[in-house]
Amino acid sequence: MALLIKNGEIVTGSARYVADIWCEHQQITAIGRDLPAPEGAEVVDASGMFVFPGFIDPHTHIHLPFMGAFAKDTYATATRAAVLGGTTTVFDMCCPSKSESPSDGFAEWKAKAAGQACCDYSFHMGITRFDDEAREQLRRIASEGMASFKIFLAYKGAFGIADSELFGALSLAAELGAVTAVHCENETLIAELQNRHLSSGRTGPEWHHESRPPYVEAEGVRHLMAFAEATGAPVYIVHLSCREALEEAVRGRLRGVDVRIEALIQHLLLDKSLAELPDFEGAKFVMSPPLREIIHQGALWNALAQGLVDTVATDHAPFDYPEQKGLGRGDFTKIPNGIPSLEERIPLLYTHGVAAGRIDLHRFVDVASTNAAKIFGLFPSKGTIQPGSDADLVLFDPSYRGKLSVKSQASEVNYNAFEGFDIVGRPAVVTVRGEVAARDGRFVGTPGRGRLIARPLRRPPGQSK
Ligand code: URP
Ligand code: ZN
Ligand code: ZN
Repeated sequence: MALLIKNGEIVTGSARYVADIWCEHQQITAIGRDLPAPEGAEVVDASGMFVFPGFIDPHTHIHLPFMGAFAKDTYATATRAAVLGGTTTVFDMCCPSKSESPSDGFAEWKAKAAGQACCDYSFHMGITRFDDEAREQLRRIASEGMASFKIFLAYKGAFGIADSELFGALSLAAELGAVTAVHCENETLIAELQNRHLSSGRTGPEWHHESRPPYVEAEGVRHLMAFAEATGAPVYIVHLSCREALEEAVRGRLRGVDVRIEALIQHLLLDKSLAELPDFEGAKFVMSPPLREIIHQGALWNALAQGLVDTVATDHAPFDYPEQKGLGRGDFTKIPNGIPSLEERIPLLYTHGVAAGRIDLHRFVDVASTNAAKIFGLFPSKGTIQPGSDADLVLFDPSYRGKLSVKSQASEVNYNAFEGFDIVGRPAVVTVRGEVAARDGRFVGTPGRGRLIARPLRRPPGQSK
């Protein structure tokens, strides 16, 4: 499979120029002006388009048994949606239950994805319990290439772990040099506030936010910063949603904590009034941390533009409305948490970031692709455009105008949280390791071609710091 992309305007985190890209054996092999088209090669004209490195979503939940429900997508449907939206690599969260061992959980997630995915993927290995057996299994899983962990400080009794386990897990991560992605909310405060509201008859989705106000998240971040400082572990705060939490993360950074920060497209564009929609419709917009007061969006956009926030992800966690979200009718604490956005992230970030003048093209590429590749050990195979990189490319048509709708989405979930949102530009052609996988909004790739990507540890077992 040989592919020549002609006359596109290549944009990476640091460069912008017009050139042709020659792809062979699934990689980029040459970049230059007026490259000849050898016989048999597929030629795609990218005149008038930006050519971006394939986008990377560092935070998805595709296989997710959670709060009494299973997230709606499969690896086939979710990665198809991802590709149509310009995302060519996803990091899914492998989240075993507390009764499952890490090895069993990893095997379960691998089996679900095997032979299904339309694009490449890797896993952050969830640590939902930490004991001697878990330590040894996690060491092995990490050295097999799942070189990052995931920890929840929230979800008491489910995924959440105790402080002694947090210390042990981060000590292991520090020893291996594995980045740990952490959901930062104080689970005890959440449980107490939930009880306070429920016992006063405040049971609707609009109370979800009130049980997890900004100080609950800020306290989670402050807590993580102390544990990361004590253990020396590199950490990555997932779905940071508010100014107070950002301030705590920056305080940690100033103290020398190796901390990276992720924002979500949902928190950048949606606000808490949506979770207050009447007749339980707000349940569509229940996620954790919750959608915030609109004022936090400005802080997140500023932090994104100025380099305080490193990545923009989706935390794609799709649950149907009202069938699955309805599990929490009469008790907001039982509404399966999550707002899907895997397909919409890139068009929305371009529209509200680049086209709206909030971030430039290079920052767009950095936060949606390059930084995730660097943080999680994929760079420069992914996250940039250079000879030797995987031929994951997005030919982006900035002249396109459209609207988002559940009617035209590929994800299996039955609503679109961004219904009716206008879109400026779209991925017109998307390649996955040199194969054209999406064209003009249609999937034309090969389901099952996506590979599980192993990533090297910074400090493999046996090698001291
Ligand atoms: O509400 C959310 N974020 N659902 C998915 C699970 C998680 O906390 O990331
Ligand atoms: Zn989370
Ligand atoms: Zn998540």
